[in-house]
Amino acid sequence: MAETVIERLSATWARTDRIFELLAADAFLAQPIALRHPFIFYVGHLPAFAWNHICAGVLGLPSFNAGFDELFSRGIDPDVDDPTHCHAHPEVPDSWPPLAHVLAYRDRVRAAVLDSVDAVVERAGTQAMARDGRVFAMIIEHELMHQETLLYMMQQLAFDLKVRPSWLPPVTLGGGRPLDTAQVPAGTATLGAALTDLGFGWDNEFPSVQVFVPAFRVDQTPVTNRQYLDFVTDGGYRRSELWSRDDWEWSRAEKLDAPPVWMEKDGRRLYRGLFDLLPLDSVADWPVYVSLAEARAYARWQGKRVLTEPEYHRAAFGDPTGAERAFPWGAAAPDERHGNFDFQAWSPTPVGACPEGASAWGVHELVGNGWEWTETPFSGFPGFEARIPGYPGYSADFFDGKHFVLKGASWATAAELVRRSFRNWYQAHYPYVFAKFRCVSNG
Ligand SMILES: [Fe+2]
Repeated sequence: MAETVIERLSATWARTDRIFELLAADAFLAQPIALRHPFIFYVGHLPAFAWNHICAGVLGLPSFNAGFDELFSRGIDPDVDDPTHCHAHPEVPDSWPPLAHVLAYRDRVRAAVLDSVDAVVERAGTQAMARDGRVFAMIIEHELMHQETLLYMMQQLAFDLKVRPSWLPPVTLGGGRPLDTAQVPAGTATLGAALTDLGFGWDNEFPSVQVFVPAFRVDQTPVTNRQYLDFVTDGGYRRSELWSRDDWEWSRAEKLDAPPVWMEKDGRRLYRGLFDLLPLDSVADWPVYVSLAEARAYARWQGKRVLTEPEYHRAAFGDPTGAERAFPWGAAAPDERHGNFDFQAWSPTPVGACPEGASAWGVHELVGNGWEWTETPFSGFPGFEARIPGYPGYSADFFDGKHFVLKGASWATAAELVRRSFRNWYQAHYPYVFAKFRCVSNG
């Protein structure tokens, strides 16, 4: 196991480094999303999390930089508007330490983590987080999730604060098209997982629960920029009757009149990608990335609604025999044939271009090309326990009725995170996620 752990750690760190290399030298203090820390925090946070859970947590090693362990231990949560409600996080400092000091801390932690692998394996019999290398899986998944967060922060960053890398694949503009709708018959969906099902899972994935789902009709492909443009030009952002009261007030306060990555210049609509400004027409078949509030308004405009978490499970994993699949396409491990995830494209791709990833009912892209918004508030399954040592609020801090479940994966989601029980969550008014949606109607 030790060799695999070391390989997985090294691969994860290599990608993190590649992502930070996308930043211009003077961009580490930039804070493109006001409710998130500047980038330098994340340079320190990833190693601090590893140190605190592996070296201090499992092995009880003495700290070599207690100040950094604490300063970088937890981020501000962009999703909680009442900070007294959640677990405390460290004070935001008046100024951040020099980048070179943070990088030196990172390197020292990485070396200590590599040195700790055998000692952790030896404690498998006595410490829950050491069993099956669980603590390593946790810090790797934590880092993989932050890679995506960093990229959607970079998506908001001005072009002159980013360095376009030579390895960036060209954007894909053709080869897909929106499809029609599919009927999913009534049946049972299994959400979550049993503890014995997974080598590692986050607290919110356990235990499993069976839910009966009535029949419904669902879009086979996510809503595209072109389809969404019809809503915009039909006055979708000016028609309060299409929005819930909360969503409407938020959209007015934010002065929204189109998705955040759309721009208008000299009367032309443009799309702001990570490194390119593209004519909106050219990316018309990419899924539109919007908040849940905007997705709901579009769905209401269509006389439909956004799908629920149980409906997502039925659409993705159900099949006509009554069995449930591990992945929409079957049992095969996720790879590039099945969808746009795992940093292949570094951008959205046209919808419907990946038929091999379709589910038994012919529903496409339930995994990949953007997280899938659901209309289900994030909460624990019956029997939920906050079970991560040293991190009791990982999920439970967000069981507040304001956060909603997202499923699947985006282009910036690592294949390691693609599993049926994995759940992501954001507020309905958080517009920065690489998140798409589709509509359903009662079948
Ligand atoms: Fe974190």
